[in-house]
Amino acid sequence: MTGLAQFRRRYRLDEAPVPFTLDGAPFAGRRGDTVLTAILSVTGSLRRTEFTGEPRAGFCLIGACQDCHVLTADGRRLRACTTLLEPGMAFVTAGAMA
Ligand code: FES
Repeated sequence: MTGLAQFRRRYRLDEAPVPFTLDGAPFAGRRGDTVLTAILSVTGSLRRTEFTGEPRAGFCLIGACQDCHVLTADGRRLRACTTLLEPGMAFVTAGAMA
């Protein structure tokens, strides 16, 4: 997944880095990040819909809309806005669901 970051980090700059991968590329979020904030701090979207191919980046950011699902490298589906980032998490954008 490519593109400019959706979010610009303005806080937690001094928090411990939390490493994760996105489509195999290494990145680091910050302690206390959700999966959504970590991914959107390094790229422009979470996934593409299977129906139209359009990029999705979540909508409500509070766990209500179901628009922020991401796939982990081991095939689990997570709600990105309500899941805390943990060290070593691996996410894939290919084959993501609507
Ligand atoms: S952005 Fe709406 S549930 Fe995550």
